[in-house]
Amino acid sequence: MSGHVPAPLIASSRTPDPPDAEPGAGQPAGGTATARPTCRENRMPLITWGPELEIGVDIIDRQHQGWVNLLNELDVALVEGRGLEQVGKTLNELIDYTHAHFRTEEGLMAKADYEDLPMHRREHRVFTDQIEIFRDRVELGQMALSLEVMQFMRGWLVTHITGSDRGYISAFEAAGQG
Ligand SMILES: [Fe+2]
Repeated sequence: MSGHVPAPLIASSRTPDPPDAEPGAGQPAGGTATARPTCRENRMPLITWGPELEIGVDIIDRQHQGWVNLLNELDVALVEGRGLEQVGKTLNELIDYTHAHFRTEEGLMAKADYEDLPMHRREHRVFTDQIEIFRDRVELGQMALSLEVMQFMRGWLVTHITGSDRGYISAFEAAGQG
């Protein structure tokens, strides 16, 4: 295969808490309680976790933190030039995590009879379709994960968490899922 990139593989860091954990399930030690960004000392993480990203639903906030951590990890892998194999692995982890997180969220929305579930689900599908296209093109060597792609993912995630996800808070609270 052409376009080989040297891959100084660094041992993979911790994996975020599994998003498939049932709501209320205990979190394993060494999880993402502090959401410490995995980045080099002098570099800002792509996304910094903070109160403005919290929606007040514990299971969702923990998963969102895991999501942010994985996106930051992907950013670090790119910046450090870890190579296609490692970048692809992290991207696939991010995709798997995203699917699992959306399943959790959609399950809770269904339980709460959230009226905007169909629209919310569509937003999720558009995003997963898009990042899977990125993954496929990267694997085929048709594109590289650029700054623009990372900014797209960052922008989508932040806009979605601070916008659409806030829409179901009152429905969750009314259903006792807050
Ligand atoms: Fe969502």
